[in-house]
This record gives sequence, C-alpha cells and structure tokens, in this order.
Amino acid sequence: MESALSNLLHEDRRFNPPPELAASANVTEAAYAQAEQDRLRFWEEQARRLSWSQPWHTTLIWKPPFAQWFVGGKLNVAYNCVDRHVEAGYGDHIAIHWEGEPGDTRSLSYAQLQQEVSKAAHALTSLGVHPGDRVMIYLPMIPEAAISMLACARIGAVHSVVFGGFSAQSLRSRANDAGAAVLITADGGFRRGSAHALKAIADEAVEGTGIETILVVRRTGQDVFWRAGRDIWWHDLVDAQSAEHAWQAFDAEHPLFILYTSGTTAEPKGILHTSGGYLTQVSYTHHAVFDHKADTDVYWCAADVGWITGHSYIVYGPLSNRVTQVMYEGAPDTPHQGRFWELIDKYRVSILYTAPTVIRTFMRWGEQLPAQYELSSLRVLGSVGEPINPEAWMWYREHVGRGRCPVVDTWWQTETGAIMISPLPGVSSTKPGSAQRALPGISADVVDETGNSVSYGEGGYLALTEPWPAMLRGIWGDAQRYQDTYWSRYAEQGYYFAGDGAKKDEDGDLWLLGRVDDVMNVSGHRISTTEVESALASHPAVAEAAVVGAHDCLTGQGIVGFVILRGEHDCGAAQVLLTQLRRHVTDQIGAIAKPRQLMVVPELPKTRSGKIMRRLLRDVADRRELGDVTALAEGGVMEMIRASVSVDSVAPSIPEPR
Ligand code: WTA
Repeated sequence: MESALSNLLHEDRRFNPPPELAASANVTEAAYAQAEQDRLRFWEEQARRLSWSQPWHTTLIWKPPFAQWFVGGKLNVAYNCVDRHVEAGYGDHIAIHWEGEPGDTRSLSYAQLQQEVSKAAHALTSLGVHPGDRVMIYLPMIPEAAISMLACARIGAVHSVVFGGFSAQSLRSRANDAGAAVLITADGGFRRGSAHALKAIADEAVEGTGIETILVVRRTGQDVFWRAGRDIWWHDLVDAQSAEHAWQAFDAEHPLFILYTSGTTAEPKGILHTSGGYLTQVSYTHHAVFDHKADTDVYWCAADVGWITGHSYIVYGPLSNRVTQVMYEGAPDTPHQGRFWELIDKYRVSILYTAPTVIRTFMRWGEQLPAQYELSSLRVLGSVGEPINPEAWMWYREHVGRGRCPVVDTWWQTETGAIMISPLPGVSSTKPGSAQRALPGISADVVDETGNSVSYGEGGYLALTEPWPAMLRGIWGDAQRYQDTYWSRYAEQGYYFAGDGAKKDEDGDLWLLGRVDDVMNVSGHRISTTEVESALASHPAVAEAAVVGAHDCLTGQGIVGFVILRGEHDCGAAQVLLTQLRRHVTDQIGAIAKPRQLMVVPELPKTRSGKIMRRLLRDVADRRELGDVTALAEGGVMEMIRASVSVDSVAPSIPEPR
C-alpha cells in the first residue's frame, strides 16, 4: 500500500544535552517510564504541583470525546499563579519585567501583581461580571493583559482574548459568538514606532453586539471617542478598588477561557479550556520542557498573549511556577534589528521561547546582529508554531545559543492547550528539525488512513491516542463540530486527529510535516510541504521558502515554490540560481520532490501568528482569483507577490524527465 506520506528528508546531526544541565535537570529519563507505568497516577502527581482547596475524587472520566479531569477538585487558578507565591514569602520576587516598545519599562513583583489582579477582580465584579460570564480582552502586550486574564480567572469569569492586530469584524464575530457583555481594551498600542488605535476598532466592533461596557486602559494617550455610560477608564475604575480580594475556589472543570482559532483555512472555532487539568499540564510542561528554575532563571516567551502560546507560556504555566519573565510590547526591529538581543543582555534572559518565522527573519537580517551581543545568560532555547527547518534550527543553536544551549522544538496546538511533543533539554539527544517524542504522560502516534500505526521510517498522520489534562473540552456552542473536526476520522480507535502530517524516523522519533490540507500529491506520491521547504532553505542563498501543489495535467499536482533570497543574493542572477535550487532539492531529497517552478518573491503571505498561508499561494500558482485574505498579517503582501511573479512563469510546464 502507498504510504500516507513520503519520508524524504534525512538528518544525521545529533546534539547531546550539556552535562551540567543534564546533571541538575528538573526532569530525567525516569519520568517516561514512570508515566508509562501508570499514566493517571503520573498526572495526579503533577496536579499536586498546584494548590487545591478541595482534592479531586476521580482523576479522569473519559466518555469519548468528552473528558473531565480531577473531578470533584476545587482550586482558584489566579491564586495558584500569584497569591500562593506571596504567601510563601516571594512577594518581592519580580514576576514581570515589562518593556514597552518606546523604551518605557515597568517591573511588577508578585505582591504588586496580587494587588493589581485583586483590584481588577473587584472592578469586574462591580461591572456585574459573575462566574461563568464571558469577558472579551483586546489589548496590546502590556501588563494589564495578564492582569485582566488573571482577574477573570480569580472571579471565575471566562476570558476570550482577541489578538490586538485583528479587525473590528473579527472582534465583533468573536464577541457575538462568546456572548460577552464586557470588553477590556486600550486607547492603542505601540508597534513599529507608531501608536496604532485599538479603542477606535473596539467602538466599531461592539455595534450590534451584547457588549455593554468597555473598560479602557490608557497606553498611548491618543485621542479616543468616548460614550458616557458605556466607556470607563481603567485608571478610574480599577485604581479606586481595594487591593485585597477574597478569592473563591472553582471546580476543576470550571471554564477558564475561550480562544478563537481560525487556523490557516477555516472559520474561527471557539476552543474551550477549563481549569484544573489545563493548569496542571501547562505548569508541568513549563517546568519540564524549559527546565525552569524559579530562583535563577529569567524567562522570555516572545509570543503575544492573544495566542495560545501567550496564554499557556506567558500567563498560566510560567506564573504558576513563580517565574521572573520579560514581556515585550513591540516589534523585533524597533528601534533597531538587535532589539531582542539587547533585551536578552539587559535582563540576563536564560530561557527564550519564540517561533520559526521569527528565527528565519533574524537569519535574513544576518548573523552579524546577534554577534554584537553577549547572549551569555541563555541556556535553553525553544521553538513553537510551525515546523522548524533544520537550517533555522542550526542557526538558532549556533548564532543565538552559541552552540551551548539545547533547542527544544515544541509541538502543540490551541486545542491541546499545552506542549505535547518535545525534547527534554536535560535528557534528549536533539535532532535539528524534530520534535522527537511525546512528553511523559502524553500518548501520540503516527498512523495511516485507517488508523494503524506506521512503521519506523514511514510517514502518516499525527494522532493523540489517549486523553490529556489540558485538552480542549469542546468548541464553544458547537459540540457537533467538535466531534466532526477532531474525533470522527479515527472514531473506531478513539484517537484525536491533529490535522498534521508527521513521520517516525528510524529511531521512532517524530517529525512534524505541516498541515494535512497542504500535503501535495505528485504522481501519486504524497509529499509534505515541510520537507521540500526544508530542502530549499538548506541552500545558502535561501532565507525562506514555501511550496504548494499546483494543478498539473501530467502529474496531478506539480510542486511550485516561492523563495525569499538572503540579503546578499542579487535577484538579477535569479534564473541561474533557480536552476541550481531545483537541482539542490533533487540532491537533498530526491527527484520526485523537484519543484516544477520556483519564483523569487519579496515576502510570503502569513497569518498574524506567523504561519504561511499556502492556500493563497495555491491560488497564485493556479492563477485563480485570490480567496479570503482577511487573515493575512500584511494586507499588501499578495499584490507584492503577484507583481513579482510574471504570468508566464506560473503556467503549467511539462516536467523534466526524472
Ligand atoms: C503547527 C500553536 C511543527 C501545527 C501552539 C499545529 C507545529 C499548529 C509546531 C497549531 C512544531 C505548532 N512543529 N508544527 N513545533 N508547533 N505547529 O493552534 O500545524 O496556533 O497543528 O498553536 O501549528 O497552531 P496553534
């Protein structure tokens, strides 16, 4: 039988954990065996990392696809992230070193965070917010974003954060779907040196929704429209509240938040997460995957709180572990392209967590930039959001980690809530580009169309074969869609279908190969975009690459590639280079994957969280009208791409003999 997905790329480089890190690692090899022996007991042990007001009586009730974890247990999520550290004597310990894009700063100790969250909790209650009510949050990367989320958690309200780059239309549809009555926003935020408006977008968004109150943080000082009776300044309402707040415990399955995810293709889905299981897994994974040590580490997750990465690895996981973290408001190139490295030196950051798209941008800017900084405080580097191509992984390791820091490539989703597949920095011998192994307590496999496990060395679809504590509890208001999207494909086995292609290498390690919707079918061979893109990006002239399957009358689909060249390569010489690049792909992974056409482009279309929108590139390759472009981060990018691609060069061509 034809395998579900071809295995083309082979990678032999290996990096052992640094001996000092391995010697004092938070988690060792033994954890895998322990979890294997008794998975539920393993998770019970991790749940004891938290402070519970009432213990659970049943660890897991699993009626596929509906799970309940730590049933009967009660806890307060905000207490676990803030107050208990103050009670333990760490009130002066810094929780957040915040850095605004213009260079203003603010540091919050755990005692100060406790006061701010308490005041915000009172403020929400005064606005009539009750446990279970939904609150929309539409803020820039300022401390009030974390404070608002924690204030909701503290009073049992359900937050739904919408990324500050989204439009009025996106905010409106989410507020309507969630049925929220309160929206927290700011006048604006700073990005790339200017103040962008948020309140004005919020004003437009709330028309025709159930939003009755807009709580507004003053950040930029720009003029805002004001509707008396609806709009309230944060500093008027919140600052006037008592800094003491008696929290109450909620059920482990009490809803914590809804986060809308549109992915690269479909209509947004409101992914619902609950309290006890979610906090257990984000806390454990932050401890295990980053080897986080509260007394000495300074941690920085460079995501936005509007994404799941920000929820789980800026707010809930790290704060539950008494982190000291950097939170940065702005862009990596403002006021200069060395801003990240400057911040790392300034705060002596020891753990950095960012995305492949950011790493590839740094590669384009050149290694001479990080080289100007010390970066000697770094000890663990993480990646999330997309498959990381081996070249970017190596660059991250060498030019940021200086060959000293383990790189952990973490696979997970909004739906999984927490990291699922990743190396452990003190245990794994890492492989550039591989997420490697399901974490202790997590069960994942690569399966074929019928749900059978594929052999080592073969590709297929990623499935999660057992329920996990931080799993989504459903899609808000749409149980049927929850069943259909994630659980119908492998209903017989009861597996969760992740929608990602993957392969198992000869050691059984996992490699993520991109979304199933993007898989290309060339002459009956199912080829992942990730492997061809990684092969292209391993050529020294290429900074970034995206490939898609375009209609081809001979082969079904032909591979069409879009490449961004590195700074020093001249587009004028492109024709010769493109021929070389096609040959390079053949040499790296085989003639079957040789692109039919390659085009040099100035940019790639990406979602606001940095994922490449291959669907739009397929439209270009097939010379169709462009589909829905509303999810694009930079509106003009498709015109730029179209303008740089002459119509001739996208006409289907007869493939060369292999
Ligand atoms: C992709 C982000 C390969 C994948 C936390 C997944 C990855 C989707 C990785 C979820 C990785 C995320 N390697 N692919 N390390 N991490 N992905 O919901 O396709 O924004 O299904 O969650 O991103 O994206 P989401």
